[in-house]
Amino acid sequence: MRLAVNIDHIATLRNARNEGHPDPVEAALLAERHGAAGIVCHLREDRRHIKDDDLARLREEITTKLDLEMAMTDEMQRIALSVKPDLVTLVPEKREELTTEGGFAIEKHFTRLTEFVKPLREKEIGVSIFIEPEEEAISLAAEAGANIVEFHTGTYSLRTGDEEKAFELERIRNSARFAREAGLTVVAGHGLSVLNIAPFKELHDIEEVSIGHAIISRAVLIGLPAAIQEILDLISR
Ligand code: PXP
Repeated sequence: MRLAVNIDHIATLRNARNEGHPDPVEAALLAERHGAAGIVCHLREDRRHIKDDDLARLREEITTKLDLEMAMTDEMQRIALSVKPDLVTLVPEKREELTTEGGFAIEKHFTRLTEFVKPLREKEIGVSIFIEPEEEAISLAAEAGANIVEFHTGTYSLRTGDEEKAFELERIRNSARFAREAGLTVVAGHGLSVLNIAPFKELHDIEEVSIGHAIISRAVLIGLPAAIQEILDLISR
């Protein structure tokens, strides 16, 4: 199972002083050297962490794959078509939220989504849609032209009781099988950490996990290579 590391919060820390460090690109290169199979960044409308210049530098310098998380807006489509990340992950975005709060409302936006995905796929940019692990959303993602789905694991990561956790995990397992059978690559992310990632090792239809906050906050205490290694030790098959 691959690990993609989201470096948004390196930029959050940098922006606290705006003096250039820590540099998210330097962190991305370090993450790659220590086992990250991809680098993820979310260019938000308000540019609260990653900025346009970070994105351009990431595109230039990283050698694994660049996953640009973004909202379905004309501005972001223009940027994606010009920067050409390896893939984009479409997420819902609200100005007032602290982090992405739920999956993409795919049924509501289906027509626009289909039009939005087309030029990206024509430029050979992968398109992933961040959805709840539900069959209907998966089918619609495939129909809209996405080649990847990322399951929102927020509900799973917030569950505390063993039974509730097992229930959520089963939902993710079944949905991952369904998505794979529909020809999609399956990724999972949001709220994953050393405390809850271990069962994902057994979910063989999931190819990759995408982790940001837990790795970056742990890196402050033990260093980025060690924080990545802790996760890799739990997910390597
Ligand atoms: N995947 C997606 C689509 C996200 O929006 C986020 C949060 O930016 C993550 C993964 C990573 O979540 P976390 O920071 O909780 O690991």
